Order: sequence, then structure tokens, then C-alpha cells
Amino acid sequence: MGRKCLLRSLLKFSRAESRRQLPRKVFRLCHGSVPALGRRRGGPWDRLATRTVSLPVRRRFGWRGPSRSMLQVENVTKRYGSLTALDALSLRIAPGEFFGLLGPNGAGKSTLMSLVAGLRAPDAGTLKLGGRPLAVDQPATRTDLGLVPQSIALYEDLSAEQNLRIFGALYGLKGAELKSRIDEALEAVQLADRRRDQVKHFSGGMQRRLNLVAALLHRPRLLLCDEPTVGVDPQSRHAIFELLEARARAGLTIVYSTHYMEEAVRLCSRIGIIDRGRILALGTLDELLTRLPFAEEISFAESAATAPLAGALAAEGTLVTAAGQYRFRPPPGYALSGFYRRTESLGLPPRWFTSARPTLEALFLHLTGRTLRE
Ligand SMILES: Nc1ncnc2c1ncn2[C@@H]1O[C@H](COP(=O)(O)OP(=O)(O)OP(=O)(O)O)[C@@H](O)[C@H]1O
Ligand SMILES: [Mg+2]
Repeated sequence: MGRKCLLRSLLKFSRAESRRQLPRKVFRLCHGSVPALGRRRGGPWDRLATRTVSLPVRRRFGWRGPSRSMLQVENVTKRYGSLTALDALSLRIAPGEFFGLLGPNGAGKSTLMSLVAGLRAPDAGTLKLGGRPLAVDQPATRTDLGLVPQSIALYEDLSAEQNLRIFGALYGLKGAELKSRIDEALEAVQLADRRRDQVKHFSGGMQRRLNLVAALLHRPRLLLCDEPTVGVDPQSRHAIFELLEARARAGLTIVYSTHYMEEAVRLCSRIGIIDRGRILALGTLDELLTRLPFAEEISFAESAATAPLAGALAAEGTLVTAAGQYRFRPPPGYALSGFYRRTESLGLPPRWFTSARPTLEALFLHLTGRTLRE
């Protein structure tokens, strides 16, 4: 089948299918990528469903008022055989929050996203969107949800514009409205001049940007972003951040998973630290950092000159050594002015010492004994 013909039949199919819901089986598909159209394994609609979550319904999802949680996860457990990927996890996300899900590889981030998106069912617990229960066989409740999957889910043989036409059509967009939303989306991620190029000729960063706007075309109320910046160049990362921040300012609720502490800090109004299927800590950055028993960390190089100071500090607070560096964590209320007076009296120049606020990385280490990237 020629590409044009295929596209035409996809769009025709979408119109027909938009009047009813996709069969349940497509919602079981995992959060993987959408393979190229030529490859076989399920029909193209099965593959599209890995990103689109649900088909359009004319009637928008009935909202039960702004005071309720946008997303409510109660005691959700998900197992893969003997492996417990989510372990009685609970979480509430308010409308308009930019929520960060920060955790290392295998923490359960994508599994949680796939449950919220209805791609899988939990083994126990409940999920609610806007106060209404989510279930795999009730896709109509998910029309207000967009998913940016961790693996890029685009048809690489089609152009950027053709991809967006397919995703827009899946949500019932058509005609002038679809065209203007595609124009707006391509502008927003600086791909307007590449609209007719095949996605396979795009850089990884460009594909990521397109992957993101494909999930925004239908203007969801809740956007699930599963590690949307993995492997992208700084320019693309910046474009993705700018777009998400603008949408968040406009009221979009975002759940953003990452294992980059810097991204969670920059973007998110509230952060949940997740590991081994459990939320270990939850709050704003300041709230999270108060869980550390120290508020400041002073680093300096290990050397014969600094050894006497290190010896004295070990008795006053916590002193750890790593990679030729001392890290001194003073007890609460410790006067830093006294510290610097002492270094001066020992003849140690102030530039040898770096004082820093602890980071979420330090919190993760404190909570788990491991680093985020281990
Ligand atoms: N389809 C599956 N079958 C079996 N085990 C799975 C499956 N998907 C995920 N897992 C396992 O569940 C756990 C959680 O995986 P998940 O993909 O949710 O983690 P993640 O936090 O998204 O990790 P990453 O940062 O690497 O994407 C891991 O131990 C993973 O190996
Ligand atoms: Mg993942």
C-alpha cells in the first residue's frame, strides 16, 4: 500500500472509529514505541494506541469541580510476575500542579504512567481522574489525558505534519481546527520549517519535540510526560522546558517523570521521590530538603594542609570523603562564620572551600543509601 493511500485509510478509519471506543485489547499495549508502519505486529491502530490512550468522544469528560484532585492514586500495586513494580503507592495531584516523579531506573515511573494512561490495570488499589475511577475498560474517562511515552511513538516514514494529522484525527480534530492546531504545535517546538520532512530524518531531539506536541494537540487537562528529554541536545531540552512551562502557566496539570534531579528542581512545583515502587518522600523542594539532617554542605579537597581541619570537623558534624573530597555537614545551628574564622587561622584560603545547599541527590542518598543514577 502506498504511503498516501495508507494515510488516507488511517484517517478514514479514525473518523469511523471515533464514533466508538477502541477495543479493549489495544489499551493493554505497553508503554513502548510505535514501530514503523511497515513492520508487522498488530495493526497500525494497535501501535497508535500505545501513545494515544483513548479515542475521542464528543462529550468531554465530566469534571467534578476544581477543589478535587486531578489525579488520585490510592494504594496501587502492580506486579510483573514475582516482581512488584508498584507497592501500595498512593499519590494525589491537584489541578494545575507541575508534579515531578523523580527516581532511578526501574523505580516504577513508567509503570505508574501506564496505569494512569489505562494501558495496564493495577493488581490492587484505585486510580481516579477528576474524581472518577479509571479503569482499563473505560477509555472514555481518559479523553482529558495526554501521554508522552518514554519511547518515541511516531511513524518515522511519515512527515511531522502527517504524524500530527493522525494523532489529531484520533482525537476527533479535523478541517481548519486540526490544521491550525498543527501549525501552532509545529511553531511551538520550532519544527514549522521541517513539517514536510520524514521523521526518520529528524535528530533525536527533534523527534522528542514532535513526540511531545503530538500528545498536546487535543489539549488535555492532564499531561503525562515520561522522561521526555532523554538523549536530547540542550536546544531541544530548552524548547521542551519552555513549552511545558508555558502550558503549566496556562493551567495544564503535568506529571513529569525523570531521573535528572536538575529537571525536577527546575520544572516542578512538587516532587515525589520514587524508588522500588514506593514514594519515599513528597513535597516542594524546600519541604523535601528539610528532611535532611543538615542544611549546608562544605566541600574541600583532601590534602596534608586540610587534614588537621578535617580531623577537628569530624568531631563537630558529619564528615564524609569521596573522590578526594571532604564533605562536611554541620549540625543544625552551626555558625558558618566560625568555620571560616577557623580556616583563616589555619592559613587555608577561603577559595578552597565550597559551601552548598544540599540537593535532592543527597536526599535520595540519605533515604536509600544509593545514588539516583546507580
Ligand atoms: N513489561 C514488563 N514485564 C516485566 N517487568 C517489567 C515490565 N515493565 C517494567 N518491568 C519492571 O518493573 C520495574 C519498574 O519498571 P519501570 O519501567 O516502571 O521503571 P522506570 O522507573 O520507568 O525506569 P526507567 O527510568 O528505566 O524508565 C522494573 O524492575 C522493570 O524491570
Ligand atoms: Mg521508565
